[in-house]
Amino acid sequence: MTISKLVDSGHVVICCGTGGVGKTTTSAVLALAAARRGRNAVVVTIDPAKRLADTLGLSELGDTAQEIPRSRWDPAGVAKGDGRLSALMLDTEATFDSLVHKHAHSKEQAERILDNRFYRNIAGALSGTQEYMAMEKLHELHEEGGYDLIIVDTPPTRHALDFLDAPERLTRLLNNRIFRFLMMPTRRSMKLASFAAQAFLKTVAKVIGTEVIDDIVAFFRAFEGMEQGFRDRAGRVLELLSEADTSFVLVTSPRRDAVDEAEFFAARLRESELHVAALVVNRVHPDFGVTDDPEQLRRRAKELAQTDGDAGDRLSARYENLADYVQLARHERGELARAGERIGAGVVAYVPALAHDVVDIAALDAVSFYLVG
Ligand SMILES: Nc1ncnc2c1ncn2[C@@H]1O[C@H](COP(=O)(O)OP(=O)(O)O)[C@@H](O)[C@H]1O
Ligand SMILES: [Mg+2]
Repeated sequence: MTISKLVDSGHVVICCGTGGVGKTTTSAVLALAAARRGRNAVVVTIDPAKRLADTLGLSELGDTAQEIPRSRWDPAGVAKGDGRLSALMLDTEATFDSLVHKHAHSKEQAERILDNRFYRNIAGALSGTQEYMAMEKLHELHEEGGYDLIIVDTPPTRHALDFLDAPERLTRLLNNRIFRFLMMPTRRSMKLASFAAQAFLKTVAKVIGTEVIDDIVAFFRAFEGMEQGFRDRAGRVLELLSEADTSFVLVTSPRRDAVDEAEFFAARLRESELHVAALVVNRVHPDFGVTDDPEQLRRRAKELAQTDGDAGDRLSARYENLADYVQLARHERGELARAGERIGAGVVAYVPALAHDVVDIAALDAVSFYLVG
């Protein structure tokens, strides 16, 4: 297993991990590499840094993929084949809206939902919505996009796993007993509702106002008949996630807390019978191409200290520093390799901390070197 192989022959790659570790960077790098190897690749990004978005030609949010002109991703004109690179920046609300349009039974039903105040308030804010939308987008690109490779960046949630449960959470919300009750068609059935339920509604109305309740009731009525579609798609997304040519790339920093979280994440994936194809450890200590062991470096430091003069002493101190540094970097690799084994990753790739943010093609290339050679 290599990351190169995923780029060459995978169909779906999900980049996951906790916030700030390098998921968006990794996603962009893998998509770029695929296009340069002649594949038709698309990357679904979430919250990319402004300059990275500009580099990818994503000046505005949108819910449709934009093809990036070849001159931008292959400025030197050296890429082989007729690869293509598209990108989109996920806009939760717009995706939700187009989903409503697409799956409503009529234009009126769609408009009723979109105009609903309750809907307007929850479309962007519902917990797990962003995760859910990333999965919806994946499903849509898979069914309709005609792409060879779809790379999905996942949202910067504290619980990086939410996207696995998100489709279920939404359908669970739509199936919730209280909402079912609210969807009861007539006032008369309200009267038949239990005394407890009426008392509950009265209390809720006192707290949030009858108007809000009316909005909520209208919202769930408007959604009637659409839940099945949501549930079906959620099922198909989970199927797609367990296909042989779908891979999870788990990104982490070398920090202990991030590695712990990565292990937890891998365990949760395993529960869903999904596994980590590759572990990317981003921002490791660079090795500066030093091949000498720390012991060799320390011996050299001693020799230099015995030579006469200032220069020897100063150089000796530098060698001591280098020895400490190399020891630290190797210890880090050792620890991470063991974490990779515990996680059961097919491959562990190390990306050193670079001196600058990864926001232009040159920097993406630098990271690419470590991921795919
Ligand atoms: N290896 C690296 N060296 C230096 N900066 C990096 C490296 N990887 C990522 N970055 C920078 O760190 C920040 C966070 O990376 P990003 O990919 O957005 O993380 P995430 O998507 O996981 O939140 C970005 O500004 C990115 O340019
Ligand atoms: Mg990100």
